[in-house]
Amino acid sequence: MQLQRKDILGLQDMTADEIGLILDTAISHKEILSRPVKKVPILRGKSICTLFYENSTRTRTSFELAAKIMSADTTSISVAGSAVNKGESFKDTLLTLEAMGIDLFVIRHSASGSSHFASQTVKSCVVNAGDGTHEHPTQGLLDMLTMVENKERLDGLKVVIVGDIMHSRVARSNIWGLSRMGAQVRVCGPSTLLPAEIDKLPVQKHTNLDEALEGADVVNILRIQLERMDRGFFPSVREYCRLFGINKQRLRKCADDVLVMHPGPMNRGIEIAPDVADGEFAVITDQVTNGVAVRMALLYLLLGGGSTNVASA
Ligand code: CP
Repeated sequence: MQLQRKDILGLQDMTADEIGLILDTAISHKEILSRPVKKVPILRGKSICTLFYENSTRTRTSFELAAKIMSADTTSISVAGSAVNKGESFKDTLLTLEAMGIDLFVIRHSASGSSHFASQTVKSCVVNAGDGTHEHPTQGLLDMLTMVENKERLDGLKVVIVGDIMHSRVARSNIWGLSRMGAQVRVCGPSTLLPAEIDKLPVQKHTNLDEALEGADVVNILRIQLERMDRGFFPSVREYCRLFGINKQRLRKCADDVLVMHPGPMNRGIEIAPDVADGEFAVITDQVTNGVAVRMALLYLLLGGGSTNVASA
């Protein structure tokens, strides 16, 4: 099977077969990461541009590593230091870079829908690396890969997403992807941080964390966006931590082999206790490693070919 797409813009419209293909391809590509020489020639001659209008450590670095491991040429554009600071528009920036021969753009932008706009503006491939509060599809995929590796299934898995659901593109991509793959998704947070459209999403809604965690196979903990604190979404950080912070005691409500996940960056001591972040159930660094594998898989499927067999590369 081949991925019949030019772009990866979100998981909302992705089929279970497409998600399965990406996860299978990521599993086969992950082996390359354990080789002494992490280099394969699959994308030689391809040019990839990471175009980030917002900060990033994990997403940007893992896309660049993935591209380099596969021998693609990479160019990295930040708003600081580019002609965007002289007032160049998003459209002109895209057209300028495409004219230089970019085959695939990886784009992070504060505006929801920016990757859709980019996909209609350029003929090159576009991968959404996070657009506003809309979607972060590669995070959703790497989270699913981490669940599959540890639980050997997604179908029927009880996954609780805790925190600021309203502003979280990670939550939306997890909700769409996991529900498409048959998982039971529960979301939990203060009612002020649950989006107005929550009842239209394929989730169970909770405002009581202990109820939400009952029998959970996976707890995916979202970052509290401290930069939004001044808008009064919850009374205080201390209050948030008391009601929605994940600590060891709370984990006892979950399944015995619960997975603790966090997309990063973490606010240790707020949404996640330090001994949970570093504890036996946490797979947070595994998520980061899987981010490289998933991004290799996507670059390969969009630019390189359709087979999942890279063992001979
Ligand atoms: N999870 C995530 O998107 O992290 P970065 O902001 O560091 O890319």
